[in-house]
Amino acid sequence: MKLVFASNNAHKLDEVRQIMPADVEVLSLSEIGFEQEIEETGETLEANSEIKARTVAAFIGERLKVKGERIDGVFADDTGLEIDALGGKPGVYTARWYRLNDGMSAAAPLNDEMMIFAANRAKALQELKGETDRGAQFRTVITLILVEREKTALLKEKRTIQVSGIVRGRIAEEEYGQGGFGYDPVFIPEGYDKTFGELPAEIKNSISHRSRALQALVKTLKR
Ligand code: IMP
Repeated sequence: MKLVFASNNAHKLDEVRQIMPADVEVLSLSEIGFEQEIEETGETLEANSEIKARTVAAFIGERLKVKGERIDGVFADDTGLEIDALGGKPGVYTARWYRLNDGMSAAAPLNDEMMIFAANRAKALQELKGETDRGAQFRTVITLILVEREKTALLKEKRTIQVSGIVRGRIAEEEYGQGGFGYDPVFIPEGYDKTFGELPAEIKNSISHRSRALQALVKTLKR
């Protein structure tokens, strides 16, 4: 089976390739020549993951009219950090949380990915300063659109599947470790006393929100 992963995030792509079973080939957006930025205009993780998968599925449909390549579907992941003491925030605003300033003037936009990750982590630590309830979870929603070829060579949507995966944990008091990406150095998964930034990638990839969502996806596909 050949699936396109609708994400420009190289860290997510790496993880997805490590987690997916060997009989599922994962193509990146650059491998299919998709270079647009997809605007995440939805108000939920569910809506945004569907927007990403649909945008790329439409692009693949157009492209396959010209090239006779076989692709079975496209999937997208949208992930949010949900902090208990903040009523589930930043949730759908996780990617650019550092810019949300509760009505006051927002911080200037950053263009460097590592600086955005660092600013987001600083925001998480600042928001939870002095807070004893540090419970939180990562939640990933994956939308997969399976397609099939029509006689006209146009692609037709065969089936849409949406699954999710959660890992519970807590926000550390400070940053630990440099592994992973995003909020990993401040997130301690349940059952461990180290952050995802400190734990080996194999451990993160066996218990993470993304790995649980992908396992649910594979299970649905095999049904
Ligand atoms: P999105 O799903 O691309 O909108 O991702 C939202 C943001 O969540 C990313 O920019 C990261 O900051 C963060 N994020 C997503 N997945 C992870 C993860 O596995 N670990 C840490 N942070 C993550």
